[in-house]
Amino acid sequence: MEKIVSLCKRRGFIFQSSEIYGGLNGVWDYGPLGVELKNNLKQYWWQVTVRDRDDVVGLDGAILTHPAVLEASGHVDTFTDPMVDCRTCKARLRADQLSEKNGVKQCPNCGGKDLTEARPFNLMFQTQMGASADPASIAYLRPETAQSIFVQFKNVLDVSRKKLPFGIAQIGKAFRNEINPRNFTFRSREFEQMELEYFCRPEQGMELLAYWLKERIKFYEEIGISRKRLHILDVPEKERAFYSKGTFDIEYEFPFGRQELEGVAYRTDYDLQQHIKASGKTLDYFDEETKERFVPHVVEPSAGVDRTVLALICDAYDEDTAPDEKGKMETRIVMRFHPRMAPIKCAIFPLLRNKEPLVAKAREVQELLRPHMNVFYDEGGAIGRRYRRQDEIGTPFGVTIDFETLGEKDDELRDTVTLRDRDSMKQERVAIKDLPQIISSKIR
Ligand code: GAP
Repeated sequence: MEKIVSLCKRRGFIFQSSEIYGGLNGVWDYGPLGVELKNNLKQYWWQVTVRDRDDVVGLDGAILTHPAVLEASGHVDTFTDPMVDCRTCKARLRADQLSEKNGVKQCPNCGGKDLTEARPFNLMFQTQMGASADPASIAYLRPETAQSIFVQFKNVLDVSRKKLPFGIAQIGKAFRNEINPRNFTFRSREFEQMELEYFCRPEQGMELLAYWLKERIKFYEEIGISRKRLHILDVPEKERAFYSKGTFDIEYEFPFGRQELEGVAYRTDYDLQQHIKASGKTLDYFDEETKERFVPHVVEPSAGVDRTVLALICDAYDEDTAPDEKGKMETRIVMRFHPRMAPIKCAIFPLLRNKEPLVAKAREVQELLRPHMNVFYDEGGAIGRRYRRQDEIGTPFGVTIDFETLGEKDDELRDTVTLRDRDSMKQERVAIKDLPQIISSKIR
């Protein structure tokens, strides 16, 4: 994990937020490569979840949430962690993270045994709207994106005229005042979710739960996460939310242990019923064929963007050996991102920076590829070192413009370049005009 955290900072994937002021605990900023990786992930999720399907539409709800929404959903009363204070070192600790010696609970910081009783601590961030400071101006930063989907269910149904089963999808920020943010970005206080609420008839719930679990595993494979590091936990009834008839956690083997990436839950009609009760509005569905009116049930695949980015980074990290400039074998760090997820798809290298025709040709190739993918131009240093820099950030393809490209050695090779594959390190000679098609077919 140390190597991964250090690479993330060194190469600009993830920085600690407010670092120059000592950092803001549990909050992270994504650097130039991190934002590309994250955007690729979100775009691919949106593509397969919304655009490739006739039965799902999108929503982009607000972060600031009316307290009534979160009272109805149960978050105001029950979205809590039991907390204990250590009277010796004044640390506030999650009750389930205390250490234990000879059956006696201890503070994991100072070993103190003088602990308070556990008390519930609400994880929501509360804020004030407007100039007055009275309780009526309280608003919350949403702790999940799901609630705006439930609250907008009727509006979306009316405008989209979808028939059951159909889904509403959303990607967006969520905030939780986690007591112990830890494991790099894994447990953060500000994070993003990719959530789908898939509404259905009650009798379809269990079948659709199995369907979405399969779809979601397929998604992780398609973004390049190895199946052998993914695990499915069938959450036992006593650990599920009381309203859920079935929940699966999709877990990933992180270097710090097996942990949840996504929950796929059959939530019955609990959320819509809660909002019907609290708002007094009808949030039901009328089936034109059977002439029935009822409150739909819902299956919810809920994934974390940041956790998936972290899984992508952990899964991609590899070390192998490659020859240096003098042919001596050296350790190479290589991020084996699936080309679909890689922040930069193709690096473009003129063999020498001080040969104007090579540089001009390389810039031409850059302009040719730019409309199709994220490219990076690099003319600095020996070519081997330039390859190594790209391997370390997972760029799947490298194009080198050399004297053959200029037709100086063999006229038949004019306007051809070498295309290098990051994983095999093999190079093949291809025509410049074929590059957009060759590379595009592998990154889609
Ligand atoms: N709407 C259901 C829901 O929010 P959840 O299991 O609390 O369920 C769903 O959250 C996903 O959101 C998790 O599987 C995880 O990927 C992500 N997530 C939750 N809390 C997080 C945190 N503190 N930091 C990063 N990601 C988090």
